[in-house]
Amino acid sequence: MGKTIRFSISIPEELSKKLEGFLKKKGYRNRSEAFRDFIRASLVEEEWKDSRGEVVGVLSIVYDHHMGALSEKITEIEHSYLGCVISSLHIHLDEDHCLEAIVLKGKKERVQKVSDEIISTKGVILGKLLAASTGKDLV
Ligand code: NI
Repeated sequence: MGKTIRFSISIPEELSKKLEGFLKKKGYRNRSEAFRDFIRASLVEEEWKDSRGEVVGVLSIVYDHHMGALSEKITEIEHSYLGCVISSLHIHLDEDHCLEAIVLKGKKERVQKVSDEIISTKGVILGKLLAASTGKDLV
């Protein structure tokens, strides 16, 4: 890690109060750690927007496993994006519902495409792609 620099910022008092409330609620011990996280989150967002290279994402889905052959359909989609689907974790939430966390890595368009395909599969109740990062450009 490179050297750390210090700088000060100016924000309206009202915004500062809201920030303090937010930091307390989220459990931040100091503003610096929060700002490091804010900056990294913005950089990851930009990484995804501009990326022509590799991105990493985690797709979480919830579905009713009684619905058709949904598990098989999802597995089939995952197999058709070989190399892009890195890993998946399956959790039986209750008698009916399953949660899957699918780790995706590859070109942004491919990661987005497999994600959209899975989310739009009939029977998937909830689906959300979390834009993660390879971490290469983050400090
Ligand atoms: Ni299950």
